[in-house]
Amino acid sequence: MSNPKYQSPKGVHDILPDDHLYFSFIKKVVRHHCRRAGFRRISTPMFENVEVFKRSIGESSDIVEKEMFLFESKSGKKFALKPEGTAGVVRAYLEHGMSNLPKPVELYYIEPHFRYNRPQKGRYRQFHQFGFEVLGESDPAIDAQVIYISHRINQDLGIADRLTLQLNTIGSQEDRKQFREDLINYYTGKERSLCEDCKRRLHENPMRLLDCKEEDCQILASMSPKLESVLSEESKKHFELLKEYLDELGVKYELNSMLVRGLDYYTHTVFEFWSKHEGSQNATGGGGRYDGLVKLMGGQDTPAIGYAAGIERTILYMKEAGIRPPNKDKVDIFVAQLGLVAKKKSLPLINKLRDHGIITVGAVGKSSMSGQMGLADKLNAKYSLILGQIEVQEGTIILRNMERGSQETVPFDGIVDKMVELLGEKKLSSKNLWEE
Ligand code: HAM
Repeated sequence: MSNPKYQSPKGVHDILPDDHLYFSFIKKVVRHHCRRAGFRRISTPMFENVEVFKRSIGESSDIVEKEMFLFESKSGKKFALKPEGTAGVVRAYLEHGMSNLPKPVELYYIEPHFRYNRPQKGRYRQFHQFGFEVLGESDPAIDAQVIYISHRINQDLGIADRLTLQLNTIGSQEDRKQFREDLINYYTGKERSLCEDCKRRLHENPMRLLDCKEEDCQILASMSPKLESVLSEESKKHFELLKEYLDELGVKYELNSMLVRGLDYYTHTVFEFWSKHEGSQNATGGGGRYDGLVKLMGGQDTPAIGYAAGIERTILYMKEAGIRPPNKDKVDIFVAQLGLVAKKKSLPLINKLRDHGIITVGAVGKSSMSGQMGLADKLNAKYSLILGQIEVQEGTIILRNMERGSQETVPFDGIVDKMVELLGEKKLSSKNLWEE
């Protein structure tokens, strides 16, 4: 329908079956890489007390300032739909005593998120992220492992060549106290050249001025003091080791001293994957260390690092790269029948084929044989099984190879085994439900 009465809200999309092929494939790749690295899956609720996000992401971040979907309960409690995953994971980590688990605690998620921003290509109001968080380890080797897994996922999705890894360190909170002063001093007197957002942020969160996308702000940022000059020896060492580990792992990166990320919880390592064609506007994913967050949320001092990628953006880049995930939904067999007796015999036949994991459809409706065969063609079925009154009487069934256009009459008994032989035992077989 071109102009339906009801449409989905602005910036919010249906995921249609063709896109679910991408979603399923991405989930499979993510699960595969996370599980083999010892991660376990977590889901946090779609909404949280608004304080969870304010406290963690930061009051002066774009997300908290203007991008949260807020609502109130009848008793006046304030909630927000989750705009990102890390805050909820840290809240759950503390609420469920996960700090008592062997460290590091490694969790991954594949979830919808919500941000009230201006929709455009690659930016939506409901979008999905896959992400992972590692809590309880400060060794830069874990930073390298998290980055390596992100990179390997991009490789297996076929988009790694289209992306660059941007890498920076923003030091510890202690390092940044001095840097904050340096930045405020540098920008004072230059306010007129700043955009409205940057003017406002100068005293709240001056580091955010470094990754503003406005041209004039970028020119000023390029001449601003550099964080390197205030980094402690410990922070430098962490970053040096990380780079050595990435070199060892063969992961290429571009050092980018302007990369600060838009969420306040980061410390030390920050990174993003940028499209070579679209630059920073449409990063597929980003992450970094957040050593102070668990404590800020009421827990013990717990170093941590994580990463999240946008699934819709990943799909966009896969499509641009001409990648089509495997289609596992192709119909194997169409069962056509004529007459009530044939239909009755077809129903258990269909179920037996399905139990072997063979994708089988048909045996419904009242259309003519040619109508049914037309449908089998449209569905691209590999085979058709045709059962008319004569076949029922003779105890046979017609097996038609749809690709070749050839057909033969075969005994009805044994047709299931024959089809399993022709198509092979499939993954969807009921036998596989309990197997890994
Ligand atoms: P983020 O950079 O805000 O980081 O989001 C990660 C990714 O989510 C982005 O690179 C982008 O692909 C996708 N994304 C964000 N907003 C939208 C949107 N409106 N529409 C479509 N895709 C979007 C975080 O969320 C951090 N929690 C990542 C992290 C995990 N850091 C540590 N652990």
